[in-house]
Amino acid sequence: MIFTCQPGFVDLLAGELTAHGYAPVEQGAGWVRTDGKPAAGELPNLCFPQMALLDPVEITGDSVNALAARITEQFLTTAKTERFEGEWPFLFEEAAELDGLGRRVKGVEKMVQENLKKRMSRVSKLALADKPRGVARLRGLYVFFVDFKRAYVAREAVFGGQRRMADDEQAPSRSYLKIEEAYIVLGREPAFEETVADLGAAPGGWSYSASKRGAKIIAVDNGPLKGGAFDNYKIEHRMEDAFAFRPAAGQVFDWMFCDLVEEPHHVVDNLIAPWLEGKWCRRFVVILKFGRVDPLALLRQVRAPESVFSRCATNVRVRHLYHDREEFTIVGEVRP
Ligand SMILES: C[S@@+](CC[C@H](N)C(=O)[O-])C[C@H]1O[C@@H](n2cnc3c(N)ncnc32)[C@H](O)[C@@H]1O
Repeated sequence: MIFTCQPGFVDLLAGELTAHGYAPVEQGAGWVRTDGKPAAGELPNLCFPQMALLDPVEITGDSVNALAARITEQFLTTAKTERFEGEWPFLFEEAAELDGLGRRVKGVEKMVQENLKKRMSRVSKLALADKPRGVARLRGLYVFFVDFKRAYVAREAVFGGQRRMADDEQAPSRSYLKIEEAYIVLGREPAFEETVADLGAAPGGWSYSASKRGAKIIAVDNGPLKGGAFDNYKIEHRMEDAFAFRPAAGQVFDWMFCDLVEEPHHVVDNLIAPWLEGKWCRRFVVILKFGRVDPLALLRQVRAPESVFSRCATNVRVRHLYHDREEFTIVGEVRP
């Protein structure tokens, strides 16, 4: 299989894959190739991969023409008996940091599109050059170039839900992009009049994002709110310690957000655990910064059967988001 990730995190991706029994045989900027198939046929819910190409076939060629012809043939051979009822993903990607590779891949992509138009006109019109929104396993045409002359072609891929989000000029921080992306990974976003406790809220990107959807937010942080979060009638700013903040008696928040620059074990043991064990919220989005701890060990602890996430929550997804840096994001729903 080919797994893709953020370019600077490939060693962590390889480490996570190894821990799950996939043997990395080759890696480059933003990708790892592994040998063998998943033991039980299903891919586990991994953190670092953004996309996994299943059963990819290696294609080589010296020119754009040759590569496009081989990719087209590979698609036509495998799609012969297939029915295409609706839109299907048509995705070309490449290893990061190889100067000029992006341009070459665009050229090959265009040529494959033209080839398909001639050979399967109706099917080619349904091709969509975009990642699906959300966590998904879909048939399509997936091509990943590892260098100028070698690509992997797959007909099926698994998506972790990460994607680049559109910015908003009122958003007070880059963090805004992460919460927008986290909703997609969870498959749900705050709704009108839902309640949100935003712990470590300043300057207010997450609160602002929830306020755009009409939610009512308590933003807990000693720092100031800015931009679209400042003086926002949907947001109540409490200058308090997030670790000491408690819901009112009997109150259950629809959402708990937590984005603290603090040691992750301290956050899990002293903030997340009481919130999840006490069922003080229905859903959560939590970022754990792994700057000073071993990310793979932290990941193991989060996923362990005895962790507070495993014990108290369902639909838990841990992801290194497209917009995450030295951190990962955990989303889930508290068991009723
Ligand atoms: C990464 S920023 C949060 C960014 C925010 N999610 C946004 O969208 O703008 C981390 C915040 O956590 C706050 N923080 C750290 N420890 C805290 C604590 N014990 N109580 C409340 N806030 C805390 C910091 O003041 C800082 O504003």
